[in-house]
Amino acid sequence: MDKLVIEGGKPLSGSIRIHGAKNAALPIMAASLLADGEVTLHNVPHLLDIEVMLYILERLGCTCRHEQGTVTIDTSSIRSYDVPEDLMKQMRSSIFLMGPLLAKFGQVSVYQPGGCAIGERKIDLHLRGLEALGASIEELDQQIICRGRKLVGTDIHLDFPSVGATENIMMAAVTAEGTTTIFNAAREPEIQDLQHFLNAMGARIIGAGTDTITINGVEKLKPCSYEIIPDRIVAGTVMIAAAATRGNVTLTHCNPAHLTSLIHVLKRTGVQITVCNDIMTVSCMSRPKSVDRIVTSPYPSFPTDLQSQIMVLLSLADGFSVMKETVFEGRFKHVDELNVMGADISVDLNAAFIRGVPRLYGATVEATDLRAGAALVIAGLAAQGKTVVEQVHHIDRGYDRIEKLFQSLGASVERQSPVSKQLDFAN
Ligand code: EPZ
Repeated sequence: MDKLVIEGGKPLSGSIRIHGAKNAALPIMAASLLADGEVTLHNVPHLLDIEVMLYILERLGCTCRHEQGTVTIDTSSIRSYDVPEDLMKQMRSSIFLMGPLLAKFGQVSVYQPGGCAIGERKIDLHLRGLEALGASIEELDQQIICRGRKLVGTDIHLDFPSVGATENIMMAAVTAEGTTTIFNAAREPEIQDLQHFLNAMGARIIGAGTDTITINGVEKLKPCSYEIIPDRIVAGTVMIAAAATRGNVTLTHCNPAHLTSLIHVLKRTGVQITVCNDIMTVSCMSRPKSVDRIVTSPYPSFPTDLQSQIMVLLSLADGFSVMKETVFEGRFKHVDELNVMGADISVDLNAAFIRGVPRLYGATVEATDLRAGAALVIAGLAAQGKTVVEQVHHIDRGYDRIEKLFQSLGASVERQSPVSKQLDFAN
């Protein structure tokens, strides 16, 4: 397994282009199945999760390519609606295939995607939404078979504004008979991107970005070309790293409007931020101030995907902060690792109590999930001395070569691959 070796204490400086959004590209790649022919997607990052989704689409019979950020998916030879169990377990985002495959074939079989380090990750809202559209759900041990020859539009009320459930229902409803309205829908920018993509293929959807989305069923969708939005979580991660290292960084090709809650918090800590169209500059010349309370919740509130990263900045702040995680029930696994580096954080249920310390110290730590891993990289960049971050494959799921990203901003970070892997290259 790869490791990252970081010599900390260097303020980040320079300019970085933000790559396309993983959490927009994944559902949009799945939605490509709804049209017959070749879909072209631009600004698609080279990430582990993207490659797994492409592999699943190929296993279903599609012909896929991913070159220099452009993905093409030709669905004309698709021949299966059964998502293999091994691939479902490898990436829970394969659940996004349910809606499109059900709409296209009237049947789909998937497997319980299983929980992960951040929580149970149930899919009951997905299944109830598809049932509301007229599908039947059969659960055989871990396998779920969903059938519905003709889906019929209806009103669907989500108990929780689930991102994935909102997206799956949108994709299943685009060719349903009549109108579907999703109440208490998720409002994330990635939902808006999916609506724009589906409408570019001929769907008739309005309301994404609000809590009520209306889908008017159409007969058929056609392939299109589309550009994925910038990744707001990667952008937020870089902004927090710039602040934690007391650096001065410019981000280009980002969308500041997707980051208003983070910008608000960073300004409360004393970080300077300037915004001009798709360019943002972040600079921090002195020790950040603490923030009495941050609560993660669905967009547009503070994103759970930036919770572990902002906790690193707060662990270096002058004062006491409280972080409350309300979206996932197990998303504090980075706390123990940060405490190994000298942080002073205690956890009680879904609240973390952070007493700021003047500095962190390099140590060997382990990434337990994608965003916790990113947080440990930020901590290593800010810490005094050497940090080794292990299990880097978690980070590769959501960041395109994170070491190159921070090297380009002046950081001293190297990736170490096991000798066996280097020998492979020698053969
Ligand atoms: C998406 O996950 C993102 N992943 C997550 O990003 C993100 O953290 C999450 O939305 C919240 O913003 C992708 O888009 C690929 P949810 P998703 O359904 O769709 C519960 C990252 O780091 N729930 O909004 O799985 C669930 O257990 C990843 O990039 C149900 O109870 O999130 C969780 O507690 C991590 N039943 C909460 O809702 C359901 O049927 C939020 O889940 C579905 C969800």
